[in-house]
Amino acid sequence: MIDYRRLRIALLGAGAVGSQVAALLLKHGDELADRAGAALELAGIAVRDPDAPRDADLPHELFTTDAETLILGADIVIELIGGIEPARSYLLQAIGSGADVVTANKALLATHGPELFDAADQVGAQVYYEAAAAGAIPIIRPLRDSLAGDRVNRIMGIVNGTTNYILDRMDTEGADFDDVLAQAQALGYAEADPTADVDGFDAAQKAAILASLAFHTTVPLEAVYREGIRHIDAGIIASARRAGYVVKLLAVCERVTGEHGDAISVRVYPALVDRQHPLASVHGANNAVFVEAEAAGPLMFYGAGAGGVQTASAVLGDLVSAARRHVAGGVGVGESTYANLPILEVGRVTTRYQITLDVDDRPGVLAELAGILSDGNVSIATVEQTLREDGVSARLVIGTHKAVEQDLSGTVERLAASGVVERVVSVLRVEGD
Ligand code: NDP
Ligand code: HSE
Repeated sequence: MIDYRRLRIALLGAGAVGSQVAALLLKHGDELADRAGAALELAGIAVRDPDAPRDADLPHELFTTDAETLILGADIVIELIGGIEPARSYLLQAIGSGADVVTANKALLATHGPELFDAADQVGAQVYYEAAAAGAIPIIRPLRDSLAGDRVNRIMGIVNGTTNYILDRMDTEGADFDDVLAQAQALGYAEADPTADVDGFDAAQKAAILASLAFHTTVPLEAVYREGIRHIDAGIIASARRAGYVVKLLAVCERVTGEHGDAISVRVYPALVDRQHPLASVHGANNAVFVEAEAAGPLMFYGAGAGGVQTASAVLGDLVSAARRHVAGGVGVGESTYANLPILEVGRVTTRYQITLDVDDRPGVLAELAGILSDGNVSIATVEQTLREDGVSARLVIGTHKAVEQDLSGTVERLAASGVVERVVSVLRVEGD
């Protein structure tokens, strides 16, 4: 057996992910040592309650409530506590003491990423965070390393398992939103507060992380436009299906090239995706990230976006990378933010739309609506009309050609105020063309 240099690993947190990381590290330690070129010694596990039941059978003597002492003696610190504090302070302490750090904490990275990266830069340490976006799916390293020689133009990601599970069951089984959300919570996909999932906060954090990497630009969480899926009902799903679409909560990160050069747009919302698009076939709680790069063309990364043991795979991959770096020596690679591209307001984004309206069913209505759309610079691509049960009103589903969001929203306001529209049922963007 090779007498490897020993690296001390401090694990912070032993919940859904941390307990699996510890179990796999203890189980496969010898094999990981051969891959890393260093012995990975789990020095301790910091938690709140050492006596709490765990998802894996772990030696009790490893547990401590003294995270700070554990961090002090560590070469690599793995943070799997979640949230902002104390995770942020612990990571800064670890970096300050010269350790490399591994984290899956999307909430922290999306809000305090630059602070952590700057601190790491100052001491030549490295921050690894493969598990912070799309769980087990390798997407951080492909964006940071594999595509470093290319130019990413667009990312469309299904990066929240809970909302994909809900929308997929609504689409395939006609299930009700509230029932499926309860099942997603019972299955452990949803965040402790499912608002983070259904209102798009979790996806927005991941979008900020992916866009920052893809476009070499720091993207603050506040710059990500966000809408959730609470208003998506069976009627919207059915009309999407009739038009050949499926509704998906998408994180869209896009390079927009204009006369003044490049800018970017980062947005999260439920969108219509053509049923032939690869993202349409992402079912259940799975995630997928569809990347369009100038030279590579379209690439799709697919798999488990959540789950303790699945996410542990990405964390351990980072651990092996960190250990290899320790063995090789040298300073860490800083975050690449040189491009510093401007970030567009959502109002300046151009996409196609589907507008669903309940209208009076009488002569002249279509002509009046067409006039409002034309005046608003919105060009009609398709119209579907069905008579409603009351016999005096109709449901109109209008598909548009590409339009600028601020033109579209102003037009929808005028449609709503016109005497012929009873109700604007929904306005959804169409993505993936
Ligand atoms: P859990 O809530 O299951 O576990 C959190 C752990 O942190 C617990 O062991 C808890 O200790 C410990 N902890 C909490 N506060 C403190 C503290 N002040 N000091 C020391 N330990 C503390 O979280 P998850 O494992 O689900 O998530 C961990 C991270 O991974 C998060 O950033 C999350 O966003 C990310 N992630 C999770 C995924 C998943 O599927 N679960 C997927 C992708 C990323 P105790 O057990 O004693 O209470
Ligand atoms: N709640 C998240 C999801 C967990 O549903 O995808 C993974 O970040």
